[in-house]
Amino acid sequence: MTTTTISDVNSLKRALIAVWGEERVRIEEPLARYCNWKVGGPADLLLVVRTADELIRAWRLARQHRQPVTVLGFGANVLISDRGIRGFVIVNRAERLAFHPRGLVEADSGTNLAVLAKQAALHEVSGLEFLIGIPGTVGAAVAVNAGTRTRWMSHVLERVRVIDAHGRERWLAPSDLAFAYRESRLKHTGDLVITAWLRGRPGRRDRIERRMAELLRERQHQPAGPSAGSVFKNPPGDFAGRLIEQCGLKGYRVGGAKISERHANFIVNTDRASAADIKSLIDRAKAAVAERFGIRLEEEIRYLGEWE
Ligand code: EPU
Repeated sequence: MTTTTISDVNSLKRALIAVWGEERVRIEEPLARYCNWKVGGPADLLLVVRTADELIRAWRLARQHRQPVTVLGFGANVLISDRGIRGFVIVNRAERLAFHPRGLVEADSGTNLAVLAKQAALHEVSGLEFLIGIPGTVGAAVAVNAGTRTRWMSHVLERVRVIDAHGRERWLAPSDLAFAYRESRLKHTGDLVITAWLRGRPGRRDRIERRMAELLRERQHQPAGPSAGSVFKNPPGDFAGRLIEQCGLKGYRVGGAKISERHANFIVNTDRASAADIKSLIDRAKAAVAERFGIRLEEEIRYLGEWE
């Protein structure tokens, strides 16, 4: 990653304002409002993009000005540090959806997964019901292979259009992406998803909606309040929630953050928590599970911004 200097940030700022105007380009923008955990310090520069073309243009400008760029969807699965993010943050709200024959769906990467699931029902496309309860956007969901216990993004992805660090666009097939449980090559290459094509199949609206209602009911045992869903991946053959519960950590608090009493793999911001409070709980849970069970839990969430 490039070292940020004030003059770099300023030159990118001028370039962004020349394209999008003063009102849309945010300076020192607090990031807590852009993520589910509602924590995190400021971004040097921030732009909310509304189309795939804007996303590509903003990405290329950042590269031309040699600025580090971070793309946020709904910030559903990230912990942003209290010091915030240096360089440029793009908030992706490119959310065009198109329904093609035989259950094929084209979705911009900023599309909300629940919106996608509901629209699929309206268009009588089945197979995408599982997306209803997953917080987040299409792009991030492809990159981290999001899903439920049995259905993952990799099961429905047909192909994906990405842009690489040099600003080149290309198409990738699932076989290019090395998908595994909550894993894909995109997490490591840093390629950015622009649009994803998903494979559903023709279905009946009433059946699809009934299935989605069932899935939402199943999730009702999950905690309400600002969280990032599951914090840790499930280790092979076991459940992070069970292990953390066995360590007696349900309800354990640091500052304004708490390990949920309902589900121990969730950390809830109950009262103006800082990112550091949440990080302490993560470290505490990892240490306890390692000591008691000899199992190293791995984060499912991603850390963003400056951490010492
Ligand atoms: N459990 C406990 N204590 C707890 C929580 C869970 O003992 O505090 C036990 C449960 O009794 C159950 C098992 O652990 O036997 C699994 O729990 P659950 O059904 O809640 O599923 P999970 O494995 O914790 C996964 C995904 C969730 C997804 C659900 C339902 C991961 C890490 N999590 O949770 O995804 O919603 O299945 O499909 O794979 C997410 O990824 O952010 C997420 C919420």
